[in-house]
Amino acid sequence: MSARERVAGTVANYVDERTGAAKWLKKNLKKVFPDHWSFMLGEVVMYSFVILLLSGTFLTFWFDPSMREVEYEGSYQPLSGLKMSAAYASTLHISFDVRGGLLMRQIHHWAALIFMAAMVAHLLRVFFTGAFRKPREMNWVIGVGLLTLGIVEGFLGYSLPDDLLSGTGIRIAEAIIQALPVVGSYLAYFVFGGAFPGEVFIPRIYTVHVLLIPGIFLALITAHLMLVWYQKHTQYPGPGRTEKNVVGYPLLPVYMAKAGGFFFIVFGVTAFLGAVASINPIWLYGPYTPGQISAGSQPDWYMGWLDGLVRMAPPLETHAFGHTISWNILIPGLIIPGIMFTGMALYPFIESWMTGDKREHHLLDRPRNNPNRTALGAMALTFTLVALINGGNDLIATHFHLSINQIMWGTRFGIIILPPIAFVITKRICLSLQRADRDLVLHGRETGRLVRLPHGEFVEVHEPLSPEKAFLLTQHEQREPLQIADTDQSGVRNPQGWRGRIRSRFSIAAQEQVAKPTPTEVKELEHGHN
Ligand code: HEM
Repeated sequence: MSARERVAGTVANYVDERTGAAKWLKKNLKKVFPDHWSFMLGEVVMYSFVILLLSGTFLTFWFDPSMREVEYEGSYQPLSGLKMSAAYASTLHISFDVRGGLLMRQIHHWAALIFMAAMVAHLLRVFFTGAFRKPREMNWVIGVGLLTLGIVEGFLGYSLPDDLLSGTGIRIAEAIIQALPVVGSYLAYFVFGGAFPGEVFIPRIYTVHVLLIPGIFLALITAHLMLVWYQKHTQYPGPGRTEKNVVGYPLLPVYMAKAGGFFFIVFGVTAFLGAVASINPIWLYGPYTPGQISAGSQPDWYMGWLDGLVRMAPPLETHAFGHTISWNILIPGLIIPGIMFTGMALYPFIESWMTGDKREHHLLDRPRNNPNRTALGAMALTFTLVALINGGNDLIATHFHLSINQIMWGTRFGIIILPPIAFVITKRICLSLQRADRDLVLHGRETGRLVRLPHGEFVEVHEPLSPEKAFLLTQHEQREPLQIADTDQSGVRNPQGWRGRIRSRFSIAAQEQVAKPTPTEVKELEHGHN
């Protein structure tokens, strides 16, 4: 035994005798994880979160979250001598006078964008493959909480520098708070410590941004990962994979090595972007003054859809009992996002109610095999995308020489018409793909090779599928819709009444499928009875 091995052994023994860690590690380091590129998306979220923590800590050393008025004396000459808040001045200081400061600011901002993008991609993977089904509904709900927190955290983060762009965003946030009926104006006064913009908002959101939300994030991410660990990971269907096993590689050494390498790739890409791609150049916007706003003010992309919804709302207001209800802010700013996020959180429960499926699922769905869910996802994405496009209506108008009104009216109609169209088209595409799968299993792969038979007929040669591929295309379950009768055999009315009828309708829609080939059909074909 070498000296190094002896030292490692002594240290390991020392720790084990005091913590009993060896037994736990022996069991858990061998834990098997299934392998698929899409499982990396959750990891990208995790790694960008670590990058956010590290780069954010660096920024706290110099950022001054204060609205105290100062005169700028730093090295960025165009703003020299200008009066501004200490928050804005310290952000300029980090950008121009702290070594590596601008790089860190840019890394932090890029990491936030990647964090949110990876989180949405991860959510879509989980949604479209049905990974949220029992027993993972709780983890889905935690995920929706993380997404909501991510949006709030990002917004608070880019509001901190108190530049003209971020101040405009805060002004919109104030309008949304004020739109709350009855309590709105009081709440806005409370949050801003008086009239807008006041002196306390930036220091307050600083504490929330660096302390409260990261703390909640850490707690929720820990719970999220513990649940993944405890419930085990789902896996894609394939030969040898069942609802009861997990086929993959052990955590040590394969996953540890992969995950370690992957962290550095994510870090490298973020650092590269931070080094070469300018992001949030606040010195070009200038300090915030409530009387000014610049053209082309855009929030970060994950807030853009919300901005787009607010921009497209028609001017609707009600005046009653001495109160004004601004529907034009209340509906797009609070009610629609509320419905979207509540609907998203409840979706696992809604789907299981629609289909009557209360069983555990550890094998993932191929999106085409659940056309209704896939179409719903496409519908929600289309809605968000149309809203996002309107969030950039001013820039789209100037870049493509269009009228901003045309874009707004286009998206007003688009947001109502396009999502249902997306639903129908996606569902039809899924059913067509199912039909293609069926043909593939029954007739094999078209080779494009034409053969002339002895009696002169030309036929295309079809190659039979490998047993693995045939298994993959036929392994999924096709359930019958729920049979909910209005009355039972004795003529007693179903106590569920209209709820039963709605459920039955939904169930029929959810179970619409192209019948997969039966074993008898496959056998008949194998024996040439076609
Ligand atoms: C800070 C944000 C998040 C982090 C760090 C995170 C991390 C992870 C990781 C590492 C995994 C295992 C690997 C994988 O399946 O990709 C996972 C699984 C999962 N995540 Fe997330 N996630 C986050 C947000 C979300 C969101 C927004 C949702 C959905 C609303 C979600 C729902 C789930 C579910 C249901 C699983 C289990 C998937 C399975 O076993 O197939 N997560 N998460």
